[in-house]
Amino acid sequence: EWTMAAFREEMIGKIRAQVGKGKVICGLSGGVDSAVAAVLIHEAIGDQLTCIYVDHGLMRKGETEQVVSLFRGTFNIPLVHVDASARFLSALAGVTDPEVKRKTIGRLFIEVFDEEAKAVGDAEFLAQGTLYPDVIESVSFSGGPSVTIKSHHNVGGLPEGMKFKLVEPLRELFKDEVRLLGRELGLPDAFVGRHPFPGPGLAIRCPGAITSEKLDILREADAIYLDEIRKAGLYDTIWQAFAVLLPVQTVGVMGDGRTYESVCGLRAVTSVDGMTADFFPFDMAFLGRVANRIINEVRGINRVVYDVTSKPPGTIEWE
Ligand code: XMP
Repeated sequence: EWTMAAFREEMIGKIRAQVGKGKVICGLSGGVDSAVAAVLIHEAIGDQLTCIYVDHGLMRKGETEQVVSLFRGTFNIPLVHVDASARFLSALAGVTDPEVKRKTIGRLFIEVFDEEAKAVGDAEFLAQGTLYPDVIESVSFSGGPSVTIKSHHNVGGLPEGMKFKLVEPLRELFKDEVRLLGRELGLPDAFVGRHPFPGPGLAIRCPGAITSEKLDILREADAIYLDEIRKAGLYDTIWQAFAVLLPVQTVGVMGDGRTYESVCGLRAVTSVDGMTADFFPFDMAFLGRVANRIINEVRGINRVVYDVTSKPPGTIEWE
C-alpha cells in the first residue's frame, strides 16, 4: 500500500544514496514546494544541506520574513538570506516580454546561487522543488515540434558551465501530494496550505516593465485581496488567487478631483493540478467589498476588474 509515510522513508533513502557525504545547496523560493523539498532533504542529510533564499524582491507582502523565521527559527535549518532585489530590479528594468522576464530572473537566480554556493563551499548538489506538472508542461509534445508553454525557471536543465547535480525529490508528486508530505514533515498547516506562487513572483503579475513603485502597489492590493478571501473562509477552496497590476490607467473621481491611475485585475481559480482551471465564482458583494478596499487603501489604483477566464483557453497567470 502506498502511503505518504512510506514515500517519505523511501525518498530519504534515495536522497542519502544520491548525495552520500556531499554538500547540497537548496534554493528556497518562499513557496511550499521548495520548502517541503528542503525539509525532506534536511531530514535525510542534516546540515550537509544549506538553504539559500535568494530574495529577488518579487515576493508577496510579508513572505520573506515568514520564510526566514520558519527555517531559522522553527526548523533550525542553515539558511543564507541574500537580498538581491536591487540586482533583479536593475536587470529587469525596461523588460516587458514575459519570457524575457522569466529568462532574466532564472539566469540571475542561478548566477546569485552560484556565487552563494561558492561562498558556502564545495557544494556538489542543487536541490529543487520541481513537481510532476512542471516536468510535463516543459516536455515536448510527441510528434510535434518542441514546445514549452511557459519556461518555468525551475525546470528544463541547467545552463552550460553550471556544475551542480540536481536533487529533485518531488518530481513524481502533484501539488496536493506535496502538501500531504509537508504536513507529514511537520510544516505548519498555514504554510503548507498556501497557494502556489510562481518562481518569477510578482514580475509576471505586473504586465509591462517593472518598477519598485509598481511592485509596492501590487503587494498592497494583493494583501488586501487575500485578507478578504481568508476572512470569507474561501482561501482553502481556491487554488490560486492574486492581484495583477495592469499597465493601463483609467479615469476616476475622488472627492472633487479626477484621478488617472492604474487598473488592478483580480484572479482566482479552482484547479486540481494547475493544468486546467476554472475561474472562481465569487459573489458580487464580495468582489465589491474587495474593490472598495483596494481603491480606498491603495494609492495608485482607481479601478478593479475580475478575470472570468478559465484554463484553457487562458492560463492561470496573466503572463
Ligand atoms: P499557468 O499560468 O501556466 O500556470 O496556467 C500554471 C501554474 O504554474 C505557475 N507558474 C509558474 N511557476 N515559474 C513557476 O515556478 C513560472 O514561470 C510559472 N509560470 C506559471 C502558476 O502560478 C500556476 O500555478
